Amino acid sequence: MSVIRVGSVGLGGISKGVHLPGIEASPDLMLTALCDIDENRLRERGEQYRIPEARRFTDYRDLIACPDVDAVDISTPNNVHMEIAAAAANAGKPYDVEKPMTMDTAEAQALVRATREAGVKSMICFSYRYKAAARYLRSLLLGGRLGRIHHVNMQYYQAWGLAERDCPLVWRFVKSVAASGALGDLGCHALDLVSFVTGQRYEKVAAHLGTIVPERRLPDGAGRGPVDVDDFSNILAGMSGGISASFQISRFAYGRGNYQRMEVYGEHGALVYHLDRVPGLDELEIADASTDGKYVSVPIPEEFRVSQMQAFADLLNGHDDGLNASAEDGLTNEILLDGILRADAEKRWVTL
Ligand SMILES: NC(=O)c1ccc[n+]([C@@H]2O[C@H](COP(=O)([O-])OP(=O)(O)OC[C@H]3O[C@@H](n4cnc5c(N)ncnc54)[C@H](O)[C@@H]3O)[C@@H](O)[C@H]2O)c1
Repeated sequence: MSVIRVGSVGLGGISKGVHLPGIEASPDLMLTALCDIDENRLRERGEQYRIPEARRFTDYRDLIACPDVDAVDISTPNNVHMEIAAAAANAGKPYDVEKPMTMDTAEAQALVRATREAGVKSMICFSYRYKAAARYLRSLLLGGRLGRIHHVNMQYYQAWGLAERDCPLVWRFVKSVAASGALGDLGCHALDLVSFVTGQRYEKVAAHLGTIVPERRLPDGAGRGPVDVDDFSNILAGMSGGISASFQISRFAYGRGNYQRMEVYGEHGALVYHLDRVPGLDELEIADASTDGKYVSVPIPEEFRVSQMQAFADLLNGHDDGLNASAEDGLTNEILLDGILRADAEKRWVTL
């Protein structure tokens, strides 16, 4: 095992909440360089994590070229994921990158190619794979606890899009930066998670996407601009193994913070995963013959508790547990997102 020196690019919300604390908490990672185009943010994080000015960059190319950086951690908005991750790969440096991996399938194919040619490791931050309840659910389902799975229904709800919240036209509402709205932001997680826990793949999709608030005030206060992405996406999916799945994804679900619920119905019982029913908590319930058909809470064994950034360190140190998403998984997810956008636009089932 060796300590991996990490350079982080994009120092906004998710970097502050998950990536930088996760790197700091890992005995196998050391934060050595930072990059953000926002100089104030760069200075703030630089001071917080005691990174010398010589290793604070406004251009990601300088961070990638820095000899004190072994691996690159990417938390920028979606439109620059591909160019930064591909540049890291081309420099022979492994990377982790936030979801959705790229803007579309073509970019994802190019990133997979660059990653393979360079022979570097990659991790896509499908963060809910690291929730203990989701990992335990996966182990129960793959162990055959419910027998054959008939239905999976998943909701992923937030509320911050509601008109009364008056959120300005941040990049998440702009197609040229985000690619899609609730779909790429929240839906990509839900779609990945259902495939992760069931071990099955998507075969066909139908979808209804919509925009509820079509115009928002500009962040700098100068007028208003159009929202050109979806505020919600409702998806039907046919999966391998005969599973019929459905997804309800929205930023307009009153009272919801970061709420997820996944119901899995099988031939011998049902399992229900919850996130944020109790704020911040991931939980699992089961109903089968052993519970007299009643839904009861399942204790989650300690071994299922892991951290995303420690998983990145383990992957780079050759201790991959096989449960991380690679660039290939990111590509599968992009093909699915593009298929859903096409299904909605053309009002038909799309075969993947
Ligand atoms: N895995 C999760 O659960 C999760 C949660 C939230 C966000 N995300 C993803 O993380 C990414 C960032 O989201 P966020 O909420 O932190 O956004 P944010 O707007 O809070 O932060 C993005 C940061 O990137 C910087 N940036 C923009 N372009 C850059 C460039 N070319 N080079 C360097 N820095 C640049 C911005 O100045 C900003 O500081 C998105 O892809 C988002 O989808 C994932």
